[in-house]
Amino acid sequence: MKKSFLKIVGTVAVSVLVLSSCTSNADSPGLEYMPDMYRSPAIEAYVDYGEVRGRIDETKKTRLTAMAPPAFTIPFFGTDSTEVRLMMPYSRLANESFKASHGMYNDQLTREDHYTAAAADKNMLVLNAGNAEAILGKGKELFTAMCQHCHGEKGDGNGPMVTSGAYSGVPNYAERAALSDGQMFYSIYYGKGMMGAHRSLLNKKEIWTVIHYIRTLQSADYGKFNANGTAAVADTTKQN
Ligand code: HEC
Repeated sequence: MKKSFLKIVGTVAVSVLVLSSCTSNADSPGLEYMPDMYRSPAIEAYVDYGEVRGRIDETKKTRLTAMAPPAFTIPFFGTDSTEVRLMMPYSRLANESFKASHGMYNDQLTREDHYTAAAADKNMLVLNAGNAEAILGKGKELFTAMCQHCHGEKGDGNGPMVTSGAYSGVPNYAERAALSDGQMFYSIYYGKGMMGAHRSLLNKKEIWTVIHYIRTLQSADYGKFNANGTAAVADTTKQN
């Protein structure tokens, strides 16, 4: 008698517990015993919904909260050391003269000629027989999207911006064949003369990639490799 009574009480208790976890709303998680463990207050760096645990902050809901990260923050590019090295902050500073011409106003500017010093920098993305096709393909894609309208499809300085008469002073790459990769990088990164800075448009890997492509416009054999794996045209990355 006592045993069967306990059984009935037990069954009823379990059924109540099970049924109380169900609701008719399919989206509802049901009864949450420890809501903090299901849902942590979302503190997301770039997103602020103005709501933390049901407390609504109307002022936050109506303003942009994506703040610029602190200066010299290094973005996360994975754990591949080659990739990380490529993406480390550019160590060369903008020249003082860029203040007026390229709208750069920060206390990083010095009077030294960083452009001249940049000649010593090697292309960090080294071409080889295995990766050349992919890198040059990507370089062409970037060049077509970002540079061709000024520099022209063949790099002769006759892009539609120039032929339309809207713009001038774009050099023919062939005339700058002696220009080092490092200086190209500097000019693309900070801008030069009538060319604007591209550092907010292309990341460092993309700049080194497009430089390889510019070399193919200067020399048709650049990036081609002989059967034994040696470069048909000496790779400037190893020269300067
Ligand atoms: C708005 C037109 C314009 C665009 C877009 C443009 N350039 Fe230029 N570029 C110029 C001009 C003008 C010069 C000549 C600057 C000088 O020497 O005074 C130049 C010069 C260069 C040079 C030579 C720099 C040096 O140090 O002598 C390189 C390399 C170059 N551009 C690459 C690029 C690449 C790569 C892109 C695309 C990511 C690009 N440019 C986009 C107009 C442009």
